[in-house]
Amino acid sequence: MLEQEMSVQEIEQWLRERDEVKLTQLWDRADSVRRQSVGNEVHLRGLLEISNYCVRKCTYCGLNIGNRKLERYRMTREEIFECAGRIVKFGYGTVVMQAGEDYGIKTDWLAEIIEQIKIETPLAVTLSMGERSFNDLKSWRQAGTDRYLLRLETSDTALYRCIHPDLGNQSSDRIKILDQLKELGYETGSGVMIGIPGQTYQSLARDIDLFRRLDLDMVGVGPYIENPLTPLGKDCVTTPAISSSDQVPCTENLTYRVVALTRIVCPEANIPSTTALATINRDSGRELGLSRGANVVMPNVTPVDYRRKYEIYPGKACLNETAEVCQDCLAARIASIGRSIARGPGNRKHNSKT
Ligand code: 5AD
Ligand code: FES
Repeated sequence: MLEQEMSVQEIEQWLRERDEVKLTQLWDRADSVRRQSVGNEVHLRGLLEISNYCVRKCTYCGLNIGNRKLERYRMTREEIFECAGRIVKFGYGTVVMQAGEDYGIKTDWLAEIIEQIKIETPLAVTLSMGERSFNDLKSWRQAGTDRYLLRLETSDTALYRCIHPDLGNQSSDRIKILDQLKELGYETGSGVMIGIPGQTYQSLARDIDLFRRLDLDMVGVGPYIENPLTPLGKDCVTTPAISSSDQVPCTENLTYRVVALTRIVCPEANIPSTTALATINRDSGRELGLSRGANVVMPNVTPVDYRRKYEIYPGKACLNETAEVCQDCLAARIASIGRSIARGPGNRKHNSKT
C-alpha cells in the first residue's frame, strides 16, 4: 500500500518540525516509500549544458541576460554528439540537454540532433530549454524527445512575478506549459527552489501539494543559493514582505524535508538528489538526498571549459571535475549507501494502485 495521503497542513507542519526524533521518522518513511515504489536502483542521467545564452531576466539566476560578466557559449552539433557518445560509454541511460532560454537554439537544429541521438544511441532524451512555444515542444517531441523539465521555481504567484519577469508582454505561465508537455506525451518534470527570499512555509507546502496534483513524472528541488552577480543576490529586488518566522531558510535540512515529502506524496516520481544540494554539503549531500527519498543523480558531462561558464550560482559542486572523475565518485557514493546503479532509460514507474 503506497502512502500518499498528507494534507497541505500536515506538509507545512513537517516543514516547520523542530523535533529531531520526529524528523528521523520522516526520513525513514520517505526511504521506505522510495524502496517500495521505485526500488533500490539509482538512475544516472548525463547532464549536458548545451548553451548558457538566455533571454530571461530571472533575478536569482546567473545566466540572466543582464549578467554581462558571463562569457556566453553554445555547443556545436559535433560537440553534443561527442558528449552523447561518452554518456553511452559511461553506461548512463539518459542525456539531459539543458540551456538558458536561448532562441539561438533553432527548432530544427535541435530536432535534427535529437533524431540522430535517437537513431544512433539507446539513450532517452530529456530537454530543459525553458518556456518554448507549443510548436517547438511539438517538433522536439516528434523528433523523439522522451522528457522535458521545467521548474515552477515557486507556485506563489506574487513571489514568482518578482523573481521571474515576463518576456515583453507575454505572461509566463509554466503550469500551462506543463499541461502542454503532458498533452504531447512527454514525461514531465518540474520542481522548486527552497528558501527564496519571500518564500513562506505555507507556499512551499502548497508547492509540494501541487507536485502531487500535477502527477509529475519527475520532481527536482534544491536550495536557493545566492548569486552576487544577480539582482536578487545584490538585494536590488524586493520580494513580498513576510515575517521572519514564515521565511523558509535555504538550508540543507529544509531541502531534505522537501525531498522526503515529495517522495511521500509522489511515490512513483523520479526524484534527483540535486547538484545544488551537493553544493551546500559536498561531503554527503548526494547520499543524504538519496537516503531521504531521491532515486536519481544527474552527473554533469559538460566539457569542463563550458561547465565553468554555466554559472547559475557560485561554487557549484563538481565544477572542475571531469565526467570520468564524477562517474567513479558517484559509483562509490551510491555503493556506500547500499544502493545500485540502474541500467537502461529509467522511465517513470506506474505501479498499480491497489
Ligand atoms: N540557486 C539555486 N538554484 C538555482 N536555479 C537557478 N538559479 C539558482 C540559484 N541561484 C535553478 C532553478 C532552475 C534550475 C536550472 O536551476 O530552479 O530551474
Ligand atoms: Fe563529481 Fe563527486 S560527483 S566529483
